[in-house]
Amino acid sequence: MKLRSQKWFDNPENPGMTALYIERYLNFGITREELQSGKPIIGIAQTGSDLSPCNRHHVELAKRVRDGIVSQGGICFEFPVHPIQETGRRPTAALDRNLAYLGLVEVLHGYPLDGVVLTIGCDKTTPALLMAAATVNIPSIALSVGPMLNGWHKGNRAGSGTVIWDARQDLATGEIDYKEFMDIASASAPSVGYCNTMGTASTMNSLAEALGMQLPGSAAIPAPYRERGQISYETGKRIVDLVRDDVKPSDIMTREAFENAIVVNSAIGGSTNAPIHLNAVAAHLGIELTNADWQKHGHSTPLLCNVQPAGKYLGEDFHRAGGVPGVFSELLKAGVLPHPDARSVGGTTVGEAYANSEVSNHDVIYPYDKPLKPAAGFVELSGNLFDSAIMKTSVISEHFRERYLSNPDDMNAFEGRAIVFDGPEDYHDRLDDPALNIDDSCILVIRGAGPIGHPGGAEVVNMQPPTALIKQGVSELPCIGDGRQSGTSGSPSILNAAPEAAAMGGLALVQTGDMLRIDLNKGSADILISEEELATRRSDLEAKGGYPYPAHQTPWQEIQRGMVDQFDKGMVLKPATKYRNVGDI
Ligand code: FES
Ligand code: MG
Repeated sequence: MKLRSQKWFDNPENPGMTALYIERYLNFGITREELQSGKPIIGIAQTGSDLSPCNRHHVELAKRVRDGIVSQGGICFEFPVHPIQETGRRPTAALDRNLAYLGLVEVLHGYPLDGVVLTIGCDKTTPALLMAAATVNIPSIALSVGPMLNGWHKGNRAGSGTVIWDARQDLATGEIDYKEFMDIASASAPSVGYCNTMGTASTMNSLAEALGMQLPGSAAIPAPYRERGQISYETGKRIVDLVRDDVKPSDIMTREAFENAIVVNSAIGGSTNAPIHLNAVAAHLGIELTNADWQKHGHSTPLLCNVQPAGKYLGEDFHRAGGVPGVFSELLKAGVLPHPDARSVGGTTVGEAYANSEVSNHDVIYPYDKPLKPAAGFVELSGNLFDSAIMKTSVISEHFRERYLSNPDDMNAFEGRAIVFDGPEDYHDRLDDPALNIDDSCILVIRGAGPIGHPGGAEVVNMQPPTALIKQGVSELPCIGDGRQSGTSGSPSILNAAPEAAAMGGLALVQTGDMLRIDLNKGSADILISEEELATRRSDLEAKGGYPYPAHQTPWQEIQRGMVDQFDKGMVLKPATKYRNVGDI
């Protein structure tokens, strides 16, 4: 088989072009013989940098990847990916997922690479890189940077994000001061690596393994552990073989692999951002994956992982208890993994890869027949409020279940009075306004937070009740919104609503004081007003030019707003999904 890179570096039909392509790569010491030897040239798509601290450890790990590539007879070219830092990027890191995707597609298309190592980690980096691998479809393998070590504050586990949501309530009620609040935040970030809770990062890295795109057992190894360096070396070796065997992302990420990943997501208590990202990766492979698939394949799967925010432990505990292989072993033993014959980049089927895996601590990974919670997957809802939104039922607290859902196996409908906010600033400005008269029969609604309304979509749906209610002991109210929710938050929310208000979905029409009815059995979510009233509100708003959103701040915001799809469709750039096998030449 003639390698892709040989079209650049060893093309006797066009020696002039070969010479031009080759000469500049020589100037860092590589030789002509190496470049023309037919050795696979492997890219390391480097997402770590000072601007991306969650992934920064990849700068170190890449050295071990390189050693692995060279030991297996490959050549390594490392190059940067557009930085994405979940916590540092204004207005939101989600804005850059599609930008990093586009950039990586161009690099993989336009440079002499035969295969690529995808350095994944912080929330949006994982989907961005998997999406690019899907579009380009040259041999690819993902390498997680690994979670941070467990964080500790006053003898308790301090989990990324989750501890901050809790501490914010304590700060609001005056239980702690600003300094202690900041101390708690620092304690939750004790080492290199990504968030140690089962937020979007741990979720997406676990799912990259569940999809078959990472070496079995590699996703959950904490960033500072020695095994992290060792699996990096193995990953470097393996990508060279994947090139020699011509194993492509489309051979691994099949519909069957996505269905496996959906089941794993329920079992780990994965983030509500997962459907957005996996639906996007699938779209770039030409596989139609919908929110209905998430409910169909994932809802009945129980929660096995006792990891924050749904449980009590953190990423280091998860790894020690067995990690993703431990979860697979429970699913395999119970006979509920839908497709054990799906392939892994490790070279076997996932069924073979995890056949002998074990759980060493059943307080962290529960047995399938004695789970932490039953039916932990997402429920899809639709109605006159939106065509599609999801709810993660596993984070609904007992208190909430008692108040709204008397029997979890027969989830009741509930009604509440809508309190509507137009974007996060409006919510912060008016939440404590006594005129809103918010009590524990209310449903908080936020709009203007979707891919168009707040470019990229804001993680704002997990809204806290007003301080006065928190002081009365009401720590949560149901929330509905066209934005996202941090994967580290445990609020009972209906989110990712599509179409968003800015695309004139039903959320644009709801008013404070409207009664809303949510029926989890029927999967419905409606404003309880007449069709005529709804139509009048719609034509009134259209006459005013539709639901307003803030001006573009940058060229990219304008470009993306013009072509982005809604959350249920993965928030992909619509024109990009028709491209396949972009790496073929
Ligand atoms: Fe980067 Fe959580 S903020 S992984
Ligand atoms: Mg997040």
